[in-house]
Amino acid sequence: MRIIWPLLLAACGPPETAPEKGTESSDTALRTPTWHEDVAPILAEHCSGCHAPGGLADELPWTTWDDAALAAGWIAETVSSREMPPFPAETTDRCTPPFPFVGDTHVPADQAAVLRAWAEAGAPEGDPANARPLPSPPSFALPHYDRELIPPQPIVVERRESDNGKVDDLHICWAFDLDLTEEAWLTGLEVIPGNDQVVHHVRIDVGTPADGARANDQGWWPCEATAFGERAANWVPGARPYTTPSGSGLPLPPGAHLVMSVHYHVPTDEPQEDRTTLRIALTDQVPERIVQYLKVGNDAVRYEDGTGLQPGPNDAAGAEFVIPPDTAGHTESFLWRVPESLGPVDVWLVGHHMHYAAVDAVLTVQRAQPGPGEPREVCLLDVPRWDFDWQLFYVYDDPEGQFLRLQPGDVLALRCTYDTTAANTAWSEVMALEGLDAPVSLQLSDGTLSEMCASLIGVLLEP
Ligand code: HEC
Repeated sequence: MRIIWPLLLAACGPPETAPEKGTESSDTALRTPTWHEDVAPILAEHCSGCHAPGGLADELPWTTWDDAALAAGWIAETVSSREMPPFPAETTDRCTPPFPFVGDTHVPADQAAVLRAWAEAGAPEGDPANARPLPSPPSFALPHYDRELIPPQPIVVERRESDNGKVDDLHICWAFDLDLTEEAWLTGLEVIPGNDQVVHHVRIDVGTPADGARANDQGWWPCEATAFGERAANWVPGARPYTTPSGSGLPLPPGAHLVMSVHYHVPTDEPQEDRTTLRIALTDQVPERIVQYLKVGNDAVRYEDGTGLQPGPNDAAGAEFVIPPDTAGHTESFLWRVPESLGPVDVWLVGHHMHYAAVDAVLTVQRAQPGPGEPREVCLLDVPRWDFDWQLFYVYDDPEGQFLRLQPGDVLALRCTYDTTAANTAWSEVMALEGLDAPVSLQLSDGTLSEMCASLIGVLLEP
């Protein structure tokens, strides 16, 4: 089975600067907030990375009072509900992750309250003479890179339709030879998408010279249904570059190629050019700890030792991955045991992957032998409001670099919840888009009209 992880990299940008607490909240409590004095700085810091000309959401620019005032209620509401800025991992009643996440872009509660008060007061402009300086949005650019991997020439992609008139997607692969004669380690990666009209997502794997040999004389090959070696990264719109924790790296054997698989969706009639590029950071120093990725979930069966797919609601016989139509609150659950052969590992990155019928997912560790004072269960990641368009990888912010240690025998438990009723607008939209008029039950597969339940877990181990 082909597994595609159109995941966002919410990796290591610099942690957000701490909001200036106290001053603003205390004096705005005494007066009505205004655009110039209070609101413009908040939107500049938290929104202008996307909601400004040239940004990902530049159709909704809020850099001027004229534009922002019209949307004041909307802005206040999406911030208070934590829908915006997009960072769907949350601390909830059922989940307190062991560390905060790097680059958590949520707006602090005191600033969210200012936005609400401003909207309720009719979004006053205030006096430009009192304007406060505008902070810059946090930058998530790779702090340093050693190589830029650029396709030798742009590729031209064209709209392709299947028999029923739907736009078919295509996958194109490039293999970049890293010219390594000795082992090296990948420590950072940034995907620079070329044409944002057509680049849907990008996946990067560590490949071999044999992958390089598949390319045509323009350096690419169509790579539908291909799985490669160790995954190095994934990118979707909004993704951030990726830096491994200090003193760690992903092994790149001599001869390693980075295979960049670009998933194109070409809705336009005109052919489109694209030249998606990678920037990577490498080291030839043996790192103290090796990066590896584990995957939990997406098992089709329950294994003899009780791990794998678990029996659940609506299962006809034993454990099965079938999500019935027009059903809310359906769950699929999986267990995965840390094998003896892996040894102890430290978890630094987590992320979920599901499709459009999914509404939430939570991943926990059940300790085989909790240490003294240690809880039996630790929650790693809760995404209580799943959004297919904002699939991030979350990196724990542990200044000590210790992270959470998993021991052999510990069990990772993942539970995904689905809603195939009309209340789940993401799913209704997909059904309409795919021209489905009768409800269908969903099975485990990688197509849009199927589902998944998986978590990717980045761990560090001793070399
Ligand atoms: C990482 C980029 C990014 C940041 C940062 C961001 N937004 Fe957005 N926002 C988007 C995108 C993209 C959309 C378009 C709809 C979507 O994809 O969810 C959007 C849509 C919206 C919408 C429309 C909601 C809807 O349901 O379509 C509102 C309102 C909004 N953003 C408010 C904000 C506010 C306020 C901030 C800052 C506090 C903010 N956003 C920060 C990317 C961002």
